[in-house]
Amino acid sequence: MANVTVIGAQWGDEGKGKIVDWLASRADAVVRFQGGHNAGHTLVVGDVTYKLSLLPSGIVTGTLSIIGNGVVLDPWALKAEVEKLTAQGVTINPENFAIADNCPLILPLHRDLDGLREAAAGAGKIGTTGRGIGPAYEDKVGRRAIRVCDLAHLDSLDPQIDRLCAHHNALRAGFGEDPVNREQLLADLREIAPYVLQFAQPVWKRLKKVRKAGAKILFEGAQGVLLDVDHGTYPFVTSSNTVSGTAASGSGLGPSSTGFVLGIVKAYTTRVGSGPFPTELNDETGQKLGERGHEFGTVTGRKRRCGWFDAVLVRQSCAISGVTGIALTKLDVLDGFETVKICTGYRLDGKIMDYFPSHAQEQARVEPIYEEMEGWRETTAGARSWADLPAQAIKYIQRVQELIETPVALVSTSPEREDTILVRDPFMD
Ligand code: IMP
Repeated sequence: MANVTVIGAQWGDEGKGKIVDWLASRADAVVRFQGGHNAGHTLVVGDVTYKLSLLPSGIVTGTLSIIGNGVVLDPWALKAEVEKLTAQGVTINPENFAIADNCPLILPLHRDLDGLREAAAGAGKIGTTGRGIGPAYEDKVGRRAIRVCDLAHLDSLDPQIDRLCAHHNALRAGFGEDPVNREQLLADLREIAPYVLQFAQPVWKRLKKVRKAGAKILFEGAQGVLLDVDHGTYPFVTSSNTVSGTAASGSGLGPSSTGFVLGIVKAYTTRVGSGPFPTELNDETGQKLGERGHEFGTVTGRKRRCGWFDAVLVRQSCAISGVTGIALTKLDVLDGFETVKICTGYRLDGKIMDYFPSHAQEQARVEPIYEEMEGWRETTAGARSWADLPAQAIKYIQRVQELIETPVALVSTSPEREDTILVRDPFMD
């Protein structure tokens, strides 16, 4: 198992950035396989903080970084992120960075539609990141997307642009919006094309070569399993499959390549955007978790909703995604609580449930059943071995592990790369 696939096992924001960065320093290639620039991965290396939305985290360590076909790519966001990182001293060139040439593009018309829909939905809005992710994936499966490889053939793009504009103009008219400025769109694509094309290639081929050479590949998931378009809290989800299996289809490597599946799990629960959240705390405790955990979205700056750890949800995510082991993050946020609670089941219409139902209304109505544990007074921040942890914190970790039926592989105790307790090395498994 030379490869590792990292996925979020909750609603995203589990602290994947740090873990991916830590693993990336030991990988030979890092691949993003779904999502787009809706992700927010924060990496802290020494005194420098890097905030990535689209680029694979390996880019910071100079590791070969690849954007797979499963991603939706906003070319202008790409350029801005590359420029921002370059200004921070990161080297990005066609040697260490590649984009799948069959990757669909996010265009300004997708962002427009995302915004129009959310504004029209009122209280029923999804709370998207407003980046055009959903509309871009719709055009992909609707078979009218403009893809990276099309940028090399702009002179023959007219029929595709016409089809795309016809679709979007009908939708825009429904919102009372002006039609797409077709000429402006083509001019913008013409201008950005050479920039994107310098990185474009059939990445499946490059990855095949990398794999044949015995290199270690790290697949970097974005968002979390509970935002998966099939398995998440539908319709309050993102528009891609965030589960581990997507690493194969979203990169052009087969299912046998995904290796050790590392599920990133926060020691409590957070969510941004709308949708069900059984253990949400709209009280002082929730406020305290948010403040101590600095729970504000990396991409949108929105305040995250906070609640106790939900073992039912994480057990389900681990099963659905075939998680081999978890990385438990932000344990220190629970330091100093007199007692801590874990959700071990739900009550719905008088019945006890050991899983999260599929129906949105049932998801919204389940009541958490809690188990309460004694907390710990000492700090866990910066711990690098079990011996550095208070006994109660170890008990909490053990109970989590038991309830989610998945072993702990890593415990992360601060945003710093080295503040990690390694139980089981995913690359050596
Ligand atoms: P979209 O991905 O922008 O369409 O947003 C759909 C839902 O996914 C919203 O609830 C967003 O807040 C959520 N979401 C998207 N990306 C992330 C992420 O990286 N972390 C956490 N939530 C996300």
